Amino acid sequence: MVKKKIKPNIKKIKKLDKKQTKSNIKIKKNNGDGTARVHVGVPGFEDLIQGGIPSGYAVLVEGGPGSGKTIFCLQSMYNLCKQGKKVLYMSFEEPEDRLMSHMKSFGWDIEPFVKKGTLKIKRFDALDIARSVEALLSAAKKELLIDVEPMFFPEDFEPETVMVDSLTSIASAFSGEENRFRIYMEQLFRYLESKQITSFLIREVPIPTHMGNVMWGRAEEAVSFLSDGIIAIYNVIHDNGKRESAIEVIKMRGTHINKKIVSMTITDKGLTIYPGKILEGIHTQVKLT
Ligand SMILES: Nc1ncnc2c1ncn2[C@@H]1O[C@H](COP(=O)(O)OP(=O)(O)OP(=O)(O)O)[C@@H](O)[C@H]1O
Ligand SMILES: [Mg+2]
Repeated sequence: MVKKKIKPNIKKIKKLDKKQTKSNIKIKKNNGDGTARVHVGVPGFEDLIQGGIPSGYAVLVEGGPGSGKTIFCLQSMYNLCKQGKKVLYMSFEEPEDRLMSHMKSFGWDIEPFVKKGTLKIKRFDALDIARSVEALLSAAKKELLIDVEPMFFPEDFEPETVMVDSLTSIASAFSGEENRFRIYMEQLFRYLESKQITSFLIREVPIPTHMGNVMWGRAEEAVSFLSDGIIAIYNVIHDNGKRESAIEVIKMRGTHINKKIVSMTITDKGLTIYPGKILEGIHTQVKLT
């Protein structure tokens, strides 16, 4: 199959209104604390946080290869579509048709939303972004700040929620140009905030953030600080050789979180989280990959 090249619609944008921050995001629905929250509908997830992810937040979904990051996002996307939300799924890894048939195998029929125009799944080439950022930076010469619309959203589509699968693929396209990737990430987070978009940004990590002994590059570190929330998914190896999936909310600004790693299953119905089932075994003897 010949891969269709998608040209990124990167363009200059007006200076962002600095007053337009999360503090003045319009409150639509709240859980009693005045914060509008997004309900992703993954069974058990909301018991880990205060009933939902604050609307407009940028949330990292991180974990090792095959841990369930994409399924978490696809399941959330389906549930948000059912709630009538406008969602954009930006895939830098898997092609659209594979994602759609993957979802079908879980019983998540998204075709009605695609037809209705409330859901867009699009595949992008991360190299296009890297090249465009390079071109813009050389054009901007020594200017420290460039104002670029960092994502190439379809012009006629204004999503409320965006899933990016994955930041890791974008980072690898910037190979060796960590500084450029950092600049791009700053622009991306700023853009999502200015548009009050709730986003789920997948990041592949060998050892999730909280394990402590990871030497992040400066760009990776910036991504952790820029995000409002971090969800970590683990593929645990127990000493007896058994594997177990587990999940934890590491960070969610302005929200009470239950600080525990709990069990999770992946079945043909998708992810189910068991908030009452704290990961068994002594953690220092459990490898998290
Ligand atoms: N129907 C199913 N029943 C049980 N497990 C499944 C099913 N479908 C997929 N899985 C499991 O889900 C895992 C893949 O999840 P997913 O694609 O979300 O991982 P990922 O974290 O996005 O991985 P990657 O980093 O490679 O993109 C697989 O390892 C597979 O074992
Ligand atoms: Mg994936």
